[in-house]
Amino acid sequence: MKQLTFFFIFYFLVQICFAQKFVPNYDESKVPDFEVPDPLVSFKQKEINSKKDWEKKRRPELLDWFTQNMFGEVPGDLRIVSYEIIEESDDALNGKAKRKQVEISFKKKGLTLDFTILIYLPKDVQKAPLFIGYNFYGNHTISDDVNIVISDAWASNNASLGIQYNQLNEKSRGVRTNRWAIEKIIDAGMGLATVYYSELDPDKNDFSDGIHPFFYKNGQEMPAVNEWGSIAAWAWGLSRAMDYLEKDDDVDASKVIVFGHSRLGKTSLWAGATDERFAAVISNNSGCGGAALSKRKFGETVWRINSSFPHWFCKRFYRFNNKEENLPVDQHQLLALIAPRPLYVASAEEDQWADPKGEFLSTFYATPVYNLYGKKGIETIEMPEVNQPVQNTVAYHIRTGKHDVTDYDWEQYIKWAKQELKIEE
Ligand code: GCU
Repeated sequence: MKQLTFFFIFYFLVQICFAQKFVPNYDESKVPDFEVPDPLVSFKQKEINSKKDWEKKRRPELLDWFTQNMFGEVPGDLRIVSYEIIEESDDALNGKAKRKQVEISFKKKGLTLDFTILIYLPKDVQKAPLFIGYNFYGNHTISDDVNIVISDAWASNNASLGIQYNQLNEKSRGVRTNRWAIEKIIDAGMGLATVYYSELDPDKNDFSDGIHPFFYKNGQEMPAVNEWGSIAAWAWGLSRAMDYLEKDDDVDASKVIVFGHSRLGKTSLWAGATDERFAAVISNNSGCGGAALSKRKFGETVWRINSSFPHWFCKRFYRFNNKEENLPVDQHQLLALIAPRPLYVASAEEDQWADPKGEFLSTFYATPVYNLYGKKGIETIEMPEVNQPVQNTVAYHIRTGKHDVTDYDWEQYIKWAKQELKIEE
């Protein structure tokens, strides 16, 4: 009897400890005290106060930290072997736009991989600036356009979208039109390019598929602890799409804005940090591992994301599970890697899991790096009211509603992109 009582007391104590550690915190008063690592003080405690020192010393060491300890290194080089325009039309979207579907191919050691970029361009612009971003369920979901080719890449099943047997099909055509304001973009004289993210790497904890095996050494079956997870693989894919866009005469490759929502917002930030050809970067509700400060441990935490999605980051990042206080960096420094290029971070009021306040604070703490270039960022620590965007070179808004991409978000991105990249209609 005594033993049983002891056992139960022990069991309940363990439960309490676990609950405190692992239940997400949504209470601002329980956010731990922490110091925000200064983007302008090097790991060796040297102050950085010129563009030159930022570019030659601090930026490289931060980029290296995020590469080796969080997103993982791309273990080599792989070039596009061919690209083919598999379909095009001058009469898309009721005659307003041109459409192209371009298949990009890779081959190595008997392996092949293709991904298809769907592009809409305004007809009356010679070289159009454009937004590029991944979609979650296939190119054919972003519009009702019957000409969009359905990908045969792996898809996660989703009963409400009619996706079964891990295969995309006609039923999901157009189901995500609400997330892609194509006509607004075209009317603004800009283009849109999108790719189905699974074509680069299916979003599951399996490194035998997608692009990773192209880089394995003999006998290797998964990336080493400092090598790329899926987010870095998706970001790499965006850079390869950029390789193509640079060759497309209808596109102004100096004005390509990389966009992403949620896990794909984490991806757009990493793509923007690693590839300076992206002229501007948008993170929509990217949350933990994206724009949100990890040390706040608000909503999703490092432990939680690494447990639910063990394949997103490199294995070395696991060291910070429930140990955010040991991180020598935080996510505002990821944002700073994008400086001086325009950066937009957007949150949603009901998306507490992504920690809107942590996303906002990141933009504020990244701003000193933009200031080095004479660029304006988020200059006050007071969060703006809901639906009151602040649009400087670093821009931020929090809108009403849930985790999503809405027309409101796109209206802000378009207005800001035109202002920052000097785009004329
Ligand atoms: C989960 C995950 C988030 C991610 C989101 C998404 O909620 O915890 O980190 O951003 O999925 O990609 O939709």
